[in-house]
Amino acid sequence: MSLPAQVRLVEVGPRDGLQNEAQPISVIDKVRLVDDLTEAGMSYIEVGSFVSPKWVPQMGGSAEVFAGIAQRAGVTYAALAPNLRGFEDALAAGVREVAVFAAASEAFSQRNINCSIAQSLERFEPIMDAARQHGVRVRGYVSCVLGCPYEGQVDPQQVARVARALHDMGCYEVSLGDTLGTGTAGDTRRLFDTVSAQVPRERLAGHFHDTYGQALANVYAGLLEGIQVFDSSVAGLGGCPYAKGATGNVATEDVLYLMQGLGIETGVDLDRLVAAGQRISDVLGRQNGSRVARARLAAKG
Ligand code: HMG
Ligand code: MG
Repeated sequence: MSLPAQVRLVEVGPRDGLQNEAQPISVIDKVRLVDDLTEAGMSYIEVGSFVSPKWVPQMGGSAEVFAGIAQRAGVTYAALAPNLRGFEDALAAGVREVAVFAAASEAFSQRNINCSIAQSLERFEPIMDAARQHGVRVRGYVSCVLGCPYEGQVDPQQVARVARALHDMGCYEVSLGDTLGTGTAGDTRRLFDTVSAQVPRERLAGHFHDTYGQALANVYAGLLEGIQVFDSSVAGLGGCPYAKGATGNVATEDVLYLMQGLGIETGVDLDRLVAAGQRISDVLGRQNGSRVARARLAAKG
């Protein structure tokens, strides 16, 4: 299969990246991160979550973050919503695109959102209805697509069933999440091959955590499978509070560098992105998780 001319990068750093941070991060720093990402040319930014602050305290200030950011026309600013309450809070904060999240493993579903996979899908129905009424677009996630921290191996057919259920209920795109970051390029190709029998490839996205250092290879495997949307996190921030030991998403800078090398257009400025990632890494007092960013910054001296 030939590679696409364009790819859409979904920046999940402000949400997936920061949600796991134990130290409180100020609204000002979160707003600055989103604004920096807008300036770098990201066309899609996941800004926060309208989940229970008891479950994920760091996302508690998401409404304030939405109120503070400078939204640029043509850029999507999205938020996670686990239930109707979250959707309504998101709507009240002016959010025009939400993401619902299900899992391919029952144990992870229970740990992450305190219900079974079937119950989670039922919970999403009223969100879909309300979203249609308000003209809000809904993206879907399936977690643990290449392994579960509690159940181990996950059957690609099970991923396909959950992805199809999300697509059938109206999610315009379904992002397949290797939450644990253990998947390989071979697993990734088999996964997209299986799931695309149920959901068209142009409606699928890849979301790879980099725990085992395979995420960039998995992005490339996704490209070879005809996938054109990838989630990534500036400076490789992040992890999921309910997937212990899992590290951040593949770094956006690294994915961008890969795409540039392949001649694939993304609309993102690498230098600005590197600066955005370094700024938030400094705020967190953490080494920048992007190899490309570290190399570029070292070269500058
Ligand atoms: P629950 O305890 O079963 O919910 O949690 P509940 O309906 O029984 O409500 C319990 C309390 O939470 C009540 O408050 C509700 O009002 C409140 P209380 O009466 O005790 O004071 N509540 C809420 N508060 C704010 N916003 C809401 C909301 N809903 C209820 N929306 C629930 C169920 C889903 C709420 C909880 O489990 C939760 O918030 N989970 C979120 C977990 C999460 O955010 N995980 C990380 C994101 S997923 C991820 O990272 C994976 C991904 O990146 C892809 C990948 O990598 O695979 C997307
Ligand atoms: Mg994730």
